[in-house]
Amino acid sequence: MDSFSFVLFGATGDLAKRKIFPALYNLFLDNRLTAPFSVIGLGRRNWTDEVFQFHVKNSLNHFSRRFKEHDAMLDDFLQIFRYCALDVTNSEGYKAVHELILSREKELGILGNRVFYLSVSPEFFGIITSNIEKSGIGVSKGWKRLVIEKPFGRDITSARELNKKLGQVFEEEEIYRIDHYLGKQMVQNLEALKLANPMLQSLWDNKNISNIQITASETVGVEERAAYYEQAGAIRDMFQNHMLQMLMMVAMQSPEHINPENIRKKKSDIMKHLRPLNKKNTAFHVVRGQYGSGEINGEQVAAYIEEPGVESSSRNDTFVAARLWIDDYCWCGVPFYIRTGKRMKEKSTRVVIEFKSPIRDLYEDNKKTAVPNLLIIEISPNESVSLQLNLKNPAKYGKTEPVILQFSAPGKEAPEAYESLIFDTLRGDPTFFSHWEEVELSWNWVQPILEAFKDNTLPLHSYPAGSMGPEAAQQLLAGDGFIWW
Ligand code: BG6
Repeated sequence: MDSFSFVLFGATGDLAKRKIFPALYNLFLDNRLTAPFSVIGLGRRNWTDEVFQFHVKNSLNHFSRRFKEHDAMLDDFLQIFRYCALDVTNSEGYKAVHELILSREKELGILGNRVFYLSVSPEFFGIITSNIEKSGIGVSKGWKRLVIEKPFGRDITSARELNKKLGQVFEEEEIYRIDHYLGKQMVQNLEALKLANPMLQSLWDNKNISNIQITASETVGVEERAAYYEQAGAIRDMFQNHMLQMLMMVAMQSPEHINPENIRKKKSDIMKHLRPLNKKNTAFHVVRGQYGSGEINGEQVAAYIEEPGVESSSRNDTFVAARLWIDDYCWCGVPFYIRTGKRMKEKSTRVVIEFKSPIRDLYEDNKKTAVPNLLIIEISPNESVSLQLNLKNPAKYGKTEPVILQFSAPGKEAPEAYESLIFDTLRGDPTFFSHWEEVELSWNWVQPILEAFKDNTLPLHSYPAGSMGPEAAQQLLAGDGFIWW
């Protein structure tokens, strides 16, 4: 690990508090930050270093499972943090930031490697990178890396514009676009599951798999984010990024050698082979939904249009389901079903691989009891892999019945998504970050859906909060002879 300065824009914000500080702290406690480093927090507020350190401590207290008051490691950690007030749009202000970076580099023996983490609203991405260039803080003897969060644009045009701006200051290899789903252990495991298990690898194609389902259901509603969510909807908030990233991870072919370039290339190949939608067929392959009122875990919750900040006439999507086809030699003929929504029955992100079912034909008697073989990868909140098989039960006169073999990952001990993503940034491994090509291809594929939603050419199905989405999403599969697992 190289020494580095971690320059955090938006250091007083929510993401820093909930995710970034706890992630850095865990890495520190685990002795994974082995070289000297400095953290420089930037925000609008006029804070001193002490106030900032107190804020970091407070956030660890609330959001780090490993926080212990009066811990020597904690004090050492907090000492690393410095603060500088900055209006990101004012290039003059960057001088003070530059001086602070340099003085900390000198003091700690840091060799000029710099991470610029933009934990701010995307409207500031362009101006910040341009000021990074103007002020010279991006120039040093070491490497520089830019970390940005989604949303990366709001459609294909704005995403390209944004990328062009960033590209004027940072090379593609220097840009780490976070999709926190790629930091989830079980999403990362999708690669190993195939590549490290020849048995599964040999079954990973259209000869053996009948369909693949990817679900990300949430019980929460729009929370306090109506202003953002009204502009985004489930399609931009979850589908274009997290869901399509999971699709790429599940469907990508094995590279000859495992390295970031090959993996990202194989992922892009999937997007290139996704059958495009058009105005006419979008309604046939996509279901749009919005939650009505209902009950979740015994609690009555309001409809989307009754949420604070949401117009009563809003036709925003809080649920999207789609059937996708990958027209390559491996997946031709296998439907991929994706669904995501808010205010659903359960919080669950999972991938289900349904294998073809010759057993139904072989065992005449067992037609009713035999189920297809399923490989179920639970991504969160549970992390597990299970395989559903059919076995004869001697106690039931040899009738076959489903049994489940399950491996559960040791939950709480595993690093959180942000921990591994920040660690990968520091060591320069971009494997689990979205490459521009993936982002561009994703927006391109989603574009006809955005237009259909905007033009209202697709029905908006209501679903009761606490359900698994609108009936139309069940029909999407039923028409093909499948059910959601
Ligand atoms: C975020 C979305 O990217 O992911 C949120 O903006 C969503 O709307 C969240 O709730 C879900 O993430 P997770 O890790 O809880 O599944």
